[in-house]
Amino acid sequence: MLNPMSDRPVSTLNKPDAALELTLRPSLFSEFTGQPKVKERLEIAVAAAKKRKEPLDHILLNGPPGLGKTTLANILAKAMGANLKSTSGPTIEKAGDLAGLLTNLEEGDVLFIDEIHRLQKTIEEYLYPAMEDFKLDIIIDQGPNARSVRLNLPKFTLIGATTRSGLLTAPLLTRFAVRERLDYYVAEDLDKIIVRSARLLKVEIEPAGAHEIARRSRGTPRIANNLLRRVRDYAEVRHDGRITADVADKALAMLEIDQSGLDEMDKRILEAVIVKFGGGPVGVNSLAVAVGEEPDTIEEVYEPYLIMEGYLNRTPQGRVATESSYKKLGLKPATGGQSKLFN
Ligand SMILES: Nc1ncnc2c1ncn2[C@@H]1O[C@H](COP(=O)(O)OP(=O)(O)OP(=O)(O)O)[C@@H](O)[C@H]1O
Ligand SMILES: [Mg+2]
Repeated sequence: MLNPMSDRPVSTLNKPDAALELTLRPSLFSEFTGQPKVKERLEIAVAAAKKRKEPLDHILLNGPPGLGKTTLANILAKAMGANLKSTSGPTIEKAGDLAGLLTNLEEGDVLFIDEIHRLQKTIEEYLYPAMEDFKLDIIIDQGPNARSVRLNLPKFTLIGATTRSGLLTAPLLTRFAVRERLDYYVAEDLDKIIVRSARLLKVEIEPAGAHEIARRSRGTPRIANNLLRRVRDYAEVRHDGRITADVADKALAMLEIDQSGLDEMDKRILEAVIVKFGGGPVGVNSLAVAVGEEPDTIEEVYEPYLIMEGYLNRTPQGRVATESSYKKLGLKPATGGQSKLFN
């Protein structure tokens, strides 16, 4: 499914909800839970830049959707006392669009480019001198009169966010002095995020209720917040509004989120690999057709979590089901040929 707002694949539960994100998005490092190493390194970068009275170095934030890249970009700009200008790779269609953005920056501003891996290569090349030397080469006029003019840009900070850093070219990647990868959150951190969100949304929640949601949120704050809201609806309609472990469990079961947090699509993917493709290996395009999803969505949203949890292996030949995924679906691995796949 494509999100019309940003032209990027999203799953329903990992779909940004503008109003919700505005209310719940932490704006200070102190409110940002989890990712302790990333947080410490970024806080040090901010403190050092402020001490030297210089703009922050360019920063690349990488990781699956909903883990806090946009949130961190906002926190970083705020901590620097800088203005944040936001754009995204696919919305920059012409070199002129980028030139417009860059020439409107002021010293110290943060330019946030979301989905930077979707930036056209021809446009990307303008970024190299802009990032490295704060210069912009623009071509004016056409035909025999065409000439290149070099503009000086104010010292700015580029923060790039991507769900697929593997798609970034080496010249772009290496121009980010700071590169951080966000990982899926552990349940205890999601617990804290849910308790905080419940407080902000004025929802009554028991620690065990928060834990039940945290455990089944695929390690993702955005999913945790979205599930919290849907569990709240259930608690209000079917119960007295209070989220207990039992209420959370019933609501999540109704939403078809299983005990390990896998949703309908996760299970369809595993089932396709096992039943339709004999356990794999299967390429992402065939898999996508089999489950009726975009290949990009499978690669960016579903697969990383299934791989991390040990349900899928990625081999050069394609995706392969693991023993855990057979167990999850209550199936027996085929004998002979297939068993060699479990390594
Ligand atoms: N560390 C955190 N602590 C508390 N809440 C968080 C944290 N990280 C993310 N969130 C919550 O999750 C929501 C999603 O985070 P965010 O929009 O920053 O993700 P993202 O990585 O930019 O995702 P996408 O790749 O889809 O753009 C935020 O609105 C915020 O409420
Ligand atoms: Mg984002």
